[in-house]
Amino acid sequence: MSRAKPVIAIDGPAGAGKSTVARNLAKALGFVLVDTGAIYRAVALAATRAGVSRADEPAVASLAEDLLRREALVFHRDADLGMRVLLEGADVSDAIRTPEMGLGASEVSVHPKVRAALLGLQRHAGGSGGVVLEGRDIGTVVFPDAEVKFFLTASPEVRARRRHAELMLKESAPSFEETLAQVKERDLKDETRAVAPLKRAADAVLVDSSDLDFDGVVEQMLTHVRASWRG
Ligand code: DC
Repeated sequence: MSRAKPVIAIDGPAGAGKSTVARNLAKALGFVLVDTGAIYRAVALAATRAGVSRADEPAVASLAEDLLRREALVFHRDADLGMRVLLEGADVSDAIRTPEMGLGASEVSVHPKVRAALLGLQRHAGGSGGVVLEGRDIGTVVFPDAEVKFFLTASPEVRARRRHAELMLKESAPSFEETLAQVKERDLKDETRAVAPLKRAADAVLVDSSDLDFDGVVEQMLTHVRASWRG
């Protein structure tokens, strides 16, 4: 079944610039943006608040299922085409953006039952096309039939430098070495998990942002989207 407008999948490791690039690409095309990492982060936050261990697969999965059933985990678009996440009616978009919830998301996302619980939500958000989804397994699992797929990466050092610069804007930033260690730890977790590990889909275009600024990356992607999709 072909869509009037494409589903664009952007996968890649933490700190490659996916969020900025996906947001700007969606804006340039007038597409909706879906940040799937935010969904895993929100589940990690909900588990923390409920006192549920992230290692407890059945408990985290039933927590996620319950949130979805009650429509207590939802997202909506803000004027800037960004995505806001609401948990139990409260906007947690900033609360989930901490290194702690990044690691928490990585921990809850290893569980197949948790991933299965969140699949429908992601497919529902993107199914009709005209959407940019960013995550780890969009091109491989969530939308293997996406019309356009990118795998955005950069060296661990470049990614750690970017993340560190971001964290320096806040209080109590970790050292660069700690940040680099965290980046590598998360890569290893995401790449080695049994279900839906972070890996490039065979048909995904590889984009390396180590030596390109994000505007350059978006330009490169726009050129590819326009060449492959003439809507
Ligand atoms: O993109 P992010 O840093 O917000 O993602 C946080 C974690 O969520 C990431 O380390 C792994 C997990 N994740 C996932 O398993 N699958 C996705 N599609 C998106 C994120």
